[in-house]
Amino acid sequence: MAEQKTKRSGFGGKAAAILAAAGSAIGLGNIWRFPYITSENGGGAFILIYLGCILFLGLPLLIAEFSVGHNTKKNPIDAFATIKKGWGWLGAMGLISVTLIMGYYFVISGWTLNYTLASATNAIGGNFGTFFTEFTTDTWKPLIFTYIFIIANHIIITGGVQGGIEKASKIMMPILFAILIILAIYSLWLPDGREALANIFTPDFSKVTGKTFLDAMGQAFFTLSIGMGAMLIYGSYFKDGTKIAGTAISVVSLDTLVALMAAVIIFSAGVENESGIQLAFVAMPKVFAAMPFGNLWATLFFLLLGLAALSSTISMHEAVTSYFVEKRGMERKHGARLVTLFALLLSTVASLSLGDWSNFTIAGMNFFALLDNFTAIIMLPLLGILTSIFVGWVWKKEDMKAELTAEGGVDKATYPIVRFLLRYVCPILVSVVLVFGIIDFAKSFSKPAKCEEPEVTLEVMGAKELDINPTEELERVEIKVVETNNN
Ligand code: PHE
Repeated sequence: MAEQKTKRSGFGGKAAAILAAAGSAIGLGNIWRFPYITSENGGGAFILIYLGCILFLGLPLLIAEFSVGHNTKKNPIDAFATIKKGWGWLGAMGLISVTLIMGYYFVISGWTLNYTLASATNAIGGNFGTFFTEFTTDTWKPLIFTYIFIIANHIIITGGVQGGIEKASKIMMPILFAILIILAIYSLWLPDGREALANIFTPDFSKVTGKTFLDAMGQAFFTLSIGMGAMLIYGSYFKDGTKIAGTAISVVSLDTLVALMAAVIIFSAGVENESGIQLAFVAMPKVFAAMPFGNLWATLFFLLLGLAALSSTISMHEAVTSYFVEKRGMERKHGARLVTLFALLLSTVASLSLGDWSNFTIAGMNFFALLDNFTAIIMLPLLGILTSIFVGWVWKKEDMKAELTAEGGVDKATYPIVRFLLRYVCPILVSVVLVFGIIDFAKSFSKPAKCEEPEVTLEVMGAKELDINPTEELERVEIKVVETNNN
């Protein structure tokens, strides 16, 4: 293989490894998704379950994924196939899933760009719901921002592992943390801040259902970028001597901290009763507008979202690009171009599916929601199960132990715990959750195709506020007018 002769690139050092991997983990999942999923699931109780999932499922799986990458120093498909012949498909499944995620993730990323600019120039105006609906259902506007975002990704990825990803992470992550800290401090100053905080962090176990566990686990996997090849490829770029377990713990801690801080920022603004996409894009601008220097806070908030999204999307892009470069022998820029084209195509369909093409639905879901639900409910848990089975059962015991406990890895005393979690706890628990998820997902298919939601048409124009709520049939995309401007 010709490409093996040239030295494979990698991160320059430990800090780069942590920043890049934390960049992948910290994303829209933390700032946009975590707060609204938390509020939908009763706050504190959900957070406790979520933390359990992060610690007992997410952390061991992240260690496992880093180890597979680090051990083989290969792209996701070759990495699995090198450890056990015939298992390359597991890497391929991750890459297909991450491509599907890119399809809708880039669209939301594009929105953050528009919102940053609109906040900075005070262009949102007084009607936040209308601004959101008009923008997201427009044909071209969201597409243009999405394309700009994808091109930014492309530039970073063609810059290479050190010149692109590492450099971008080293610039973006400190800015991201700085903005987050400023916003968190400011939000705790707000009059209702602490009360709202107490509310959200007080467990309300009456709201806990089977779905709470599903959401908590899905969120834990999503936020840690588990099973998608992104963490695997970053692990493969870790320099020799990088502490795998230590890096995983740092990434998990930073990721959790950011999610909690985002929840603090959002809930101390008193919007805990809002849910769905609306929380970040409608409720937050409204809250900021009522504050002194509102534009500044709103601009910072959306810049934060955008940076978080960018540092995550480059890891998705890189995972797939590495396949074309290493397995197909393409030049980096050509491989990256192919991935960029996929991303452009999928995100175009996803963006249009919210507006012009919103009439095309499958099981009541438009393409955007379908990508989101299919990857979150089915692919993420499935890949979690398969990765844990692979590392816990398929990987030769001694080799696996040697890699996991290598210098800087899991220490001898904790190793049996990690192994137990990977062999038994992850596959069994996640399977249970997956089965419930599939039943839930299948229900939406078995429902007679209703020609529903015509409410989203004309009334929206006269609406003062929109309620974009998840419902049982239609996750996250039902748009309902709750208050019309009939005065
Ligand atoms: N972890 C990212 C987030 O929280 C999303 C992501 C998923 C990134 C899969 C890479 C791979 O937003």
